Amino acid sequence: MMKSLSALILAAAFSGMAAAAGAQDLASFHNNMGGCAACHGTNAVTPASVPDDEIAINKQCMACHGDFKKLADKKKRFDPHASHLSDRSAINCTVCHAGHVQPKLICNDCHTFDMKMPFADAPKGKAWDDGIDEKAVAAAEAASARETVDVLVIGAGSAGLNAAIAAKRAGAKTLLIEKHSYAGGNSMLAAGGYNAVGTPQQAKKGIKDTVDMYVADTMKGGRGKNDPKLVRILAENSAAGVKWLEDMGADLSDVKRSGGAQVDRTHRPHGGMTVGPHIVDVLRAQAAKDGVAPRVNSRAVKLLLDKDYKIAGAIVHGKHSGYYKVAAKAVVLATGGYGQNKKMIAVYRPTFKNMTSSNNVTSTGDGIIMALNIGASMTDIDWVQAHPTVGLDSRILISETVRGVGAIMVNVKGARFVNELTTRDRASDAILHQPERRAWLVFDSDLYKSAKMVRGYDHLGMLKKADSIEELAKICKMDVKTLQQTVKNYNAYRKNGKDEAFGRPDMPLGVEKAPFYAVAVAPGIHHTMGGVAITPESEVLDIQSRPIPGLYAAGEVTGGVHGFNRLGGNAVADTVVFGRRSGEHAAAYALKAK
Ligand code: FUM
Repeated sequence: MMKSLSALILAAAFSGMAAAAGAQDLASFHNNMGGCAACHGTNAVTPASVPDDEIAINKQCMACHGDFKKLADKKKRFDPHASHLSDRSAINCTVCHAGHVQPKLICNDCHTFDMKMPFADAPKGKAWDDGIDEKAVAAAEAASARETVDVLVIGAGSAGLNAAIAAKRAGAKTLLIEKHSYAGGNSMLAAGGYNAVGTPQQAKKGIKDTVDMYVADTMKGGRGKNDPKLVRILAENSAAGVKWLEDMGADLSDVKRSGGAQVDRTHRPHGGMTVGPHIVDVLRAQAAKDGVAPRVNSRAVKLLLDKDYKIAGAIVHGKHSGYYKVAAKAVVLATGGYGQNKKMIAVYRPTFKNMTSSNNVTSTGDGIIMALNIGASMTDIDWVQAHPTVGLDSRILISETVRGVGAIMVNVKGARFVNELTTRDRASDAILHQPERRAWLVFDSDLYKSAKMVRGYDHLGMLKKADSIEELAKICKMDVKTLQQTVKNYNAYRKNGKDEAFGRPDMPLGVEKAPFYAVAVAPGIHHTMGGVAITPESEVLDIQSRPIPGLYAAGEVTGGVHGFNRLGGNAVADTVVFGRRSGEHAAAYALKAK
């Protein structure tokens, strides 16, 4: 049966055939061929009998259709099966191809593609996680726990994956849940790198760096508003975090400079590859190996306290299984920031309310809301970072790396207006004071060749290219003479080792070798610096600054590490250092409380 179904499907133009069969959606289409069993293995299916992780059903999709590699169409410019998501085991067929309702192109979580999916006209239906059914929450709370663990980790981005691995290795029975259909969260989009001091990579390059310099840069970048104890922990444990990832198989062999840093300390994979997808892949594989693979499609909606105001677990909403209680001695919040929650942005940072965001759609502040509901204290909650270079009219971040390795930034006339390596808040502010509140990054073919991520932007059609500066200015509608003069001056400053115009501290490349490139950018919401207040042990504080027993947090859901402005490369460091730390402390607490 399966073999003939496979042959049938692969032989046909999928959506055309579906229309011919009169199928409204993917489920009806398959149902016409073999009943529910065609996909579910049985005809006795109820919504609750489908596991939330959808692993079995995805195996069935691939048994008939083949894996992503087989489906990838090399002739197309963009084929989601062939894209950078396709080799990640966590991206399953059902992430995009919804059985009974309209499909969802998850590329658009982060990009802005206009692609037609098979069954795109199927009824939309309400998203399973749209809103919270308070009655169902109350019923789940009144019922017995469906599961009991020592540590429940909520959110499977880098912080959550690190926390879960650390808690499990410390001997705690650990459950890692993720509300989205795939793990990775905002960390999957981290482009720049991981700031660490005292690594063999720095030593090899002869970079003189110290914990004190890291702390000083981070505090200065944060306008002195960071919690110095948290910053010191970040710096002191940063190199151990690199080693921890490398021991799992990560490549962080390259070291470069990010804005606001005195020296090169941003570690990333060789060849200018983006850091986030790589370390998320490594962590996800390790979590699976260690027996803490994230359970996707599982959203925590309420934290539970016992009568002594100690953490008792959480109510979880499973995509298929509904609302249920997980009893846990300790909970780690690793739910990320709120950069995609328009209501929270409007409340906490109204001036940014219409700004685009580079964040994954998962950054909706769930952990902050749950923590507020049990009386947690917030730190710097209204400090939101705009990244200066989000691709204009897109949601794609043009990494700080591009400036770090040599691009210059000019306004719509073609004039430089800021030290490109200044901190993000200053760079964003400078752009917002330029005509049309936007800018161009301009670079040459040496930079294009050296950074893989730049070729990725090209693949996405974001770059303008020309054989001369004059032509580039014309294509980008800049003033030709202004851009020519800007480039001439910059190349001269570089030769003399001093940027006389804006004091840029590092000019690794000139803008000298054709072809020349430009990419249009504008500021976009990138990081919410504030969040739950934590102790150095990652315990969440209540409004009287006492730890809430059993509640821990790490990553962007927390406040205090970055002050009013985060430096590039410090988010990944934060998720690894405090992710591990929160998992270790949560495990120690839970095992002691047993
Ligand atoms: O621009 C970037 O590459 C972003 C890095 C970060 O947010 O740390």
